[in-house]
Amino acid sequence: DFTPTRDDKFSFGLWTVGWQGVDVFGGAVRPPLDPAEAVHRLSDLGAWGITFHDDDVIPFGSTAAQRLERMAPFRKALADTGLVVPMVTTNLFSHPVFRDGGFTNNDRDVRRFAIRKVADNIDLAVELGATTFVAWGGREGAESGAAKDVRAALDRYKEAFDLLGDYVLAQGYDLQFALEPKPNEPRGDILLPTIGHALAFINELEHPELVGLNPEVGHEEMAGLNYAHGIAQALWHGKLFHLDLNGQHGPRFDQDLRFGAGNARGAFWTVDTVEHGGYHGPRHFDFKPPRTEDMDGVWASASGCMRNYLILKEKSRAFRADPEVQEALVAARLDQLAVPTLSVGESLADLRAEAFDPEEAGVRGMAFEHLDQLALEHLYGVR
Ligand code: GCO
Ligand code: MN
Ligand code: MN
Ligand code: MN
Repeated sequence: DFTPTRDDKFSFGLWTVGWQGVDVFGGAVRPPLDPAEAVHRLSDLGAWGITFHDDDVIPFGSTAAQRLERMAPFRKALADTGLVVPMVTTNLFSHPVFRDGGFTNNDRDVRRFAIRKVADNIDLAVELGATTFVAWGGREGAESGAAKDVRAALDRYKEAFDLLGDYVLAQGYDLQFALEPKPNEPRGDILLPTIGHALAFINELEHPELVGLNPEVGHEEMAGLNYAHGIAQALWHGKLFHLDLNGQHGPRFDQDLRFGAGNARGAFWTVDTVEHGGYHGPRHFDFKPPRTEDMDGVWASASGCMRNYLILKEKSRAFRADPEVQEALVAARLDQLAVPTLSVGESLADLRAEAFDPEEAGVRGMAFEHLDQLALEHLYGVR
């Protein structure tokens, strides 16, 4: 009946249900949400985990004593509900000091401050049991050409992750970094704009094994890319450390709709890939309940994320189990795609010696339309 349980591993950012609706055209439409209350409400809805930016719980600039004080009710709510903190992230974008970013800010003092802020937050993350540290470089970017020397900025970006990676290893922390690509917004152009850019960047780091990805549905779709394909490639590289699930209607501003809203067909293939592609991490929602909503609407939106995921999970399962689909997969030759192009012991010489009639092979259709129609009929609920 699509009711979530802890076994579904659904987690939410505190900043999602806690978003007060402030946007570029208007101020808050909802009251601040107490972090401890968020923990209780999410737990009641069937979630398993909660994630947060340092500043979501501890106001920017708090002293060590204030930090402890702010964390106490949050910790108590976690203990009372059993909700876990699988991931923590750092806000390097809200305070005016980060107007040109954190790790790649042209201002060296700001970069040093940003690394300190992240290191402090890593200690907190580990203390709370988090094993993933998300790094969304929201303000690492530019609006104009000469303002950012991209190659120098990437040197500084690498320097930050090398330093923080060394720190994690020296402390013996069980923590991995997950980079979150985004093409633009709030910057005109953001560094590491897509999954592909971020994967290539990771290969240049001193400890690439510590760093993977946190791809977000909407961010890849803003770039006109196929999210399911993107996470499939991240899985292939062993780099899908975490996920941000939400909804988006094509290339436009970052909508952060609830998961399953927006590109519904894309959501179906996303769930199919997550469930059958070897991903075992949190199913994390990073959405923004629209500012049309009051707090009841916020909880309806959060609950919709989980429900839509479970509905699509059931549809994906039924699709894969359907005998007609299994026949259609063979007709579309997916079984052949899984077989290496050369047999064991064969060489390029064997392949070159082979007789082949491209005219005969060229008339064979791929039978993909029938296969996709079956998928859509499962999605549309008529099979
Ligand atoms: C966005 C981003 C952010 C990040 C979050 C974690 O929508 O622009 O996805 O929500 O995920 O700040 O660092
Ligand atoms: Mn995100
Ligand atoms: Mn987003
Ligand atoms: Mn967003």
